[in-house]
Amino acid sequence: MAATGSPRVRNTSSKAVHMVVDSGVKRVAVIGGDGIGPEVTAVALDVVEAAGVHLATTAFDLGAARYLRDGEVLSGATLDELRGFDAILLGAVGPALGETRIPGGTLERGLLLRLRFELDTYINLRPFIGMPHSIAEGCDFVVIRENTEGAYAGEGGALRRGTPNEVATQGSVNTRFGVERCVRFAFELAMQRPDHRLTLVHKTNVLTFAGDLWQRVVDEVGAGFSDVHADYLHVDAACIHLVERPDRFGVIVTDNLFGDILTDLAGAVCGGIGFAPSANLNPTGTGPSIFEPVHGAAHDIAGTGIANPIAAIWSAALMLDALGEHVVAERMTRAVLAEARSLAEVPQSRTTEGIGRSVISRLSDG
Ligand code: IPM
Ligand code: MN
Repeated sequence: MAATGSPRVRNTSSKAVHMVVDSGVKRVAVIGGDGIGPEVTAVALDVVEAAGVHLATTAFDLGAARYLRDGEVLSGATLDELRGFDAILLGAVGPALGETRIPGGTLERGLLLRLRFELDTYINLRPFIGMPHSIAEGCDFVVIRENTEGAYAGEGGALRRGTPNEVATQGSVNTRFGVERCVRFAFELAMQRPDHRLTLVHKTNVLTFAGDLWQRVVDEVGAGFSDVHADYLHVDAACIHLVERPDRFGVIVTDNLFGDILTDLAGAVCGGIGFAPSANLNPTGTGPSIFEPVHGAAHDIAGTGIANPIAAIWSAALMLDALGEHVVAERMTRAVLAEARSLAEVPQSRTTEGIGRSVISRLSDG
């Protein structure tokens, strides 16, 4: 992220020295996207402003609607522009019906995954808090999903497509560098949590090459974190544990595809995907991180004003934390979680904006 906060001195052509005071205002690119995306991000930004953080936002019109209108998925120029921001807040990307095929792939790959990969957001951090009356009520765990490799890397190809003899292969890319930086992040996070627990989830009994690399990296990195209790679960068993013993988890670290699937299940056992936020982090700061709710575009309720903005607001709080606004981020997280708990406690029909106002009123609850 761009350095902010301290005054910089710049030499002008007239050789006079001016103090250019950096206002410290963070620049955020907002990709509302499709369906309910724009509605929930707007409310999330209202909450940020009410919490006392002024952001300089720039809206980017990207997503399925934009693609269907004029063919733009994500041009090199737009991508380069996005690189200059401190963070990206994203709503949802996806067409009304099924996937949108674009030349050479899908919109998901051409836009969302391209952003994740190009900006090197190698950590997909997805925190979960079990809501009242959910299977995982009272639980608190985090999934660290590797976000730039695995089956998402796009290795593979098709031969004789559309003929009876067609062949399709889809590989999984696992580099020591990629696995290690993800695993190290997960251990560091586990150290900060009171439970000091970390679980590697994989399928080492079948995916022997990738699984072996992940397990050895966890063993090696873990040797430097003797206070962290690390264990291992096969992904199928982890699914059972998420449903039957969700309180056993602290930090889960896993590959891209397992992480995708596990976080939908985790969202469901914690009260619904409408409560699940995510942060696609580039911890090195060589590009902006991307903050987005785990849920999709939900076209069926778009425009009705009833979309649940909790995940978007929580994602915006994760963004503030990454931007260094730790105190405000914590206050905002407490407020959004209190509102989420009350929504889960008593089923009620609420509007997107009404929930936003309620979260804002809870900001002062201390
Ligand atoms: C997610 C989504 C994406 C993914 C899709 C939309 C490409 O499901 O963020 O979990 O698979 O990562
Ligand atoms: Mn997913």
